[in-house]
Amino acid sequence: MQIVRTVAEVRAAVRAARAAGHRVGFVPTMGALHDGHLSLVTLARDQGAAFVVVSVFVNPTQFGPNEDFAAYPRDLDGDADKLRSVRADVVFFPDVETIYPRGAETRVSLDALPKHLCGLDRPHHFGGVATVVTGLMNIVQPDLAVFGEKDFQQLQVIRRLVRDLHLPVEIVGAPIARETDGLAMSSRNAYLSPDERRRALALSKALAGAQAAADAGVRDPRQLEAAMRAVCEASGGQVDYAAVVDPDTLDPATSLPARALVAVRFGRTRLIDNAALS
Ligand code: PAJ
Repeated sequence: MQIVRTVAEVRAAVRAARAAGHRVGFVPTMGALHDGHLSLVTLARDQGAAFVVVSVFVNPTQFGPNEDFAAYPRDLDGDADKLRSVRADVVFFPDVETIYPRGAETRVSLDALPKHLCGLDRPHHFGGVATVVTGLMNIVQPDLAVFGEKDFQQLQVIRRLVRDLHLPVEIVGAPIARETDGLAMSSRNAYLSPDERRRALALSKALAGAQAAADAGVRDPRQLEAAMRAVCEASGGQVDYAAVVDPDTLDPATSLPARALVAVRFGRTRLIDNAALS
């Protein structure tokens, strides 16, 4: 596994892989890797990418002024070991000036998708994600790129920008990897105290409860939202949203099937989770 820091090195590695006839897969991350991230590398291979590039870059432009950019966990050595274990081929570990050349002033922004859900509390977040992912895609130029459904709104933003800008890459969505008790894996779970970790199960419970209610005949999205909110509030967390939405537009759903999503804060830690509602 090669660890590279420059655009020229990534491009040379990708060029060599293509010349050898390999499809190239790409998994962008911010590091502090867990099994959820690693499942994306494996999925890239299962989807036919014989050569997989993983980027590890904590992207400053997607963090708000009061968010955890400085404190975000960083562990390149640990990440490299984990990536070796799933046979990633290249780890791209750029510094900020490589991704944002001095004087950079270009941004990628979307009109409507960021105005929902996580974008309400984090108004610049998805612009930062769209900008960095567009740049990274142009650096790596993969055949396919894998993103987790864990960040469902992000996945939909990426699908939309790839379509709108005609980027020549196939986007693959990966299922949410969970701990055995149901908590969605996240680098931010490390911030939780033991008590918060127990209470954080409310997110996956609220989503499972919504599916059970839908199965039992509750088809009104607003009623399902209220039930999810009640489960999350009972945990003592502060609920940012409990929503049932159209998966493509993220507008409030008027019927099922739909996507259910929750965001809950425990202390300073904000957790998100979601599920398809059939
Ligand atoms: P990060 O939070 O490190 O996540 C990297 C990728 O891993 C994303 O596609 C995310 O959805 C996926 N992922 C995280 N937890 C997961 C889980 N439990 N199951 C499945 N997939 C999971 O998302 C980002 O970084 C950044 O916004 C990025 C796209 C890299 C742009 O900076």
